[in-house]
Amino acid sequence: MRGIKILGTGVYTPDVKITNHDLSKIMETDNEWIVSRTGISSRNYSKDKSNHYMAVEASKSAIENAGVKAEDIDLVIASSCSTEYFYPNLASLVQGGIGAVNAAVVEVNTACTGFISAVDIASRYLMDDDYKTVLVVASERLAPHVDFEDRASCILFGDGAGAAVITKSDKPMYSYLSGKADNFEALYRHKNISHNCPYVDEKDETTSTAAFDTDKKLQYLQMDGKGVYKFAVDAMATAVEKTLAKAGLIKDDIDLVIPHQANIRIIQSATKALGIPQEKVFVNIGEHANTSSACIPTCLDDLNKDGRIKEGMKICLVGFGAGLTSGAIVFEQ
Ligand code: UT7
Repeated sequence: MRGIKILGTGVYTPDVKITNHDLSKIMETDNEWIVSRTGISSRNYSKDKSNHYMAVEASKSAIENAGVKAEDIDLVIASSCSTEYFYPNLASLVQGGIGAVNAAVVEVNTACTGFISAVDIASRYLMDDDYKTVLVVASERLAPHVDFEDRASCILFGDGAGAAVITKSDKPMYSYLSGKADNFEALYRHKNISHNCPYVDEKDETTSTAAFDTDKKLQYLQMDGKGVYKFAVDAMATAVEKTLAKAGLIKDDIDLVIPHQANIRIIQSATKALGIPQEKVFVNIGEHANTSSACIPTCLDDLNKDGRIKEGMKICLVGFGAGLTSGAIVFEQ
């Protein structure tokens, strides 16, 4: 049987806070529009600290909160869609950065669904006696990915990292993960790979033309906001329904829902469709914006530090992201 228990959580929030008012000085937007359409008031950007720096800091904080030593970590699973290295992978950089000398490493990129994928993977490793303590960390530095001339997308995102130390539990955990890549162009950022190999074309014919272009704009995150919105509401509701069905639970059994923080209206539409009261739904998008896979562990840390994660609680994590991916986890703490 799969089961997880959270031993500790941590975050790293970068120091440059940018409010909607700040953004309205550099683009045609205003606080009222952003708050009413998204629920976001401010976001933080990492001015000069790398993605892996943020991941290491969040991980150190989670390890301290868990009361374990870096040497106790058997596995580091790191999630990111905004790493700065092709290789080494982010989990290796975290493993080295925290001194987890006994840990194996795995990197995950299912974009904003990444923390859910990573916890799902962790729960499966934890069924093996070789792995007792797993660090799951998600870190995203998205400010350099977004186009500050595209007001519909750049206002949504922030930077940050969140981490959790988890161990095996004898209380069951259930999950549902999904992919729908036929619509991947609704949200993507292409890697611009330049090279000097004379035998290889710059443009390859198997990559979609929309996704590979020399136009500078296509270096940035590309998003069909309405398409993603529609997908997100359905995908989050479906993921929760499928996970509850696997668990043999009903919505009233769930004490706390922690959704991906993309847009307050997406969260409210999906949870209302499920009939889950808003008091059970945790939201911190106002201050953090969308930090992709770092959203859910950042919420977990807020709740944990407030003493709101209690033994025996049934918690649901649910998210969606580029891919298009989606998924949910239900576990008992
Ligand atoms: O992790 C996943 C990441 N992505 C998402 O979650 C995106 C999901 N989609 C959304 O959150 C929403 O679709 C948006 C927030 C991106 C846009 O909200 P919307 O309610 O779908 O607005 P819209 O695209 O229908 O735009 C309405 C109007 C347009 O003006 P016109 O054509 O009606 O004159 C936009 O040009 O709002 C305008 N607009 C803005 N106005 C002020 C778009 N962005 C802004 C802005 N400030 N920042």
